[in-house]
Amino acid sequence: MNTRVDLAAGVGLADRPRKSRWPARMDFAQSASGLLLGLFMWGHMFFVSSILISKDFMWTITKLFEGYFFFGRSYPGIVSVIVAGVLLLVVLHAFLAMRKFPANYRQWRTFAAHRAMLGHGDTTLWWIQAITGFMLFFLASVHLYQMLMHPGLIGPYESADRVWTGRWWPLYLVMLFAVELHGGIGLYRLAVKWGWLQGDDPAQGRRRLQFAKWALTAFFLVLGLVTLAAYMKIGYEHRAMAGQPYVPTWQQAPK
Ligand code: HEM
Repeated sequence: MNTRVDLAAGVGLADRPRKSRWPARMDFAQSASGLLLGLFMWGHMFFVSSILISKDFMWTITKLFEGYFFFGRSYPGIVSVIVAGVLLLVVLHAFLAMRKFPANYRQWRTFAAHRAMLGHGDTTLWWIQAITGFMLFFLASVHLYQMLMHPGLIGPYESADRVWTGRWWPLYLVMLFAVELHGGIGLYRLAVKWGWLQGDDPAQGRRRLQFAKWALTAFFLVLGLVTLAAYMKIGYEHRAMAGQPYVPTWQQAPK
């Protein structure tokens, strides 16, 4: 005799279809893709900010990704493969996130009313994350398409010319705020949801996480703004020769 089935029949559950595991799987996939993208963005910001050390250093990082130091020549296609992987992650993450957006006017109203009634900080953070995520649908696609199709046009002058002469800086400025807020809140929410780094006292753990979140967001915003300013300055100074690629100091012909 199967006592579990009998018990289920006793409380009227036997006829119910088994609950699907897909919502849980999708939630997990959303968290995992968000975590990978968040970690990627930290790396991305450090690589891009290599320009703050020197043009030669940024050139070296760029060439490293193009396989120059392994194969003795550049293969920008390697960068395209990395970009394609990031793009797929972004599409998957956005697709999964769309399930959580209010879908019609009534749902928007209900959410707005709950948000006002609760006055809860983390609910407001969710709202900021939804708005910045929506913005990134558009902003990130433009950037990733450019990187996918022109991976060879990354470098101290190539990037600075795009930022200044190509007038990409307004897009980067808006995208920087969107991605840092979105990523910072996202990683914080992941830690809260899966119980990471919380310690024994949940209230104190939450305060610690909130502090870490704002500290990281502030750090990457400042780093991003200073980096963007550096590209704008180099691009401005190089505007008359826009399109001319950077040649590292040790390869330049003596003057
Ligand atoms: C593998 C994929 C990616 C590559 C190769 C890449 C590469 C770059 C490069 C080379 C720059 C410097 C400016 C330029 O050359 O135009 C840049 C800037 C920037 N990228 Fe990306 N990127 C990637 C993905 C992303 C993603 C997914 C986001 C956010 C959703 C993003 C956000 C930004 C922002 C905000 C800036 C401006 C940085 C600043 O102000 O300091 N990038 N990226």
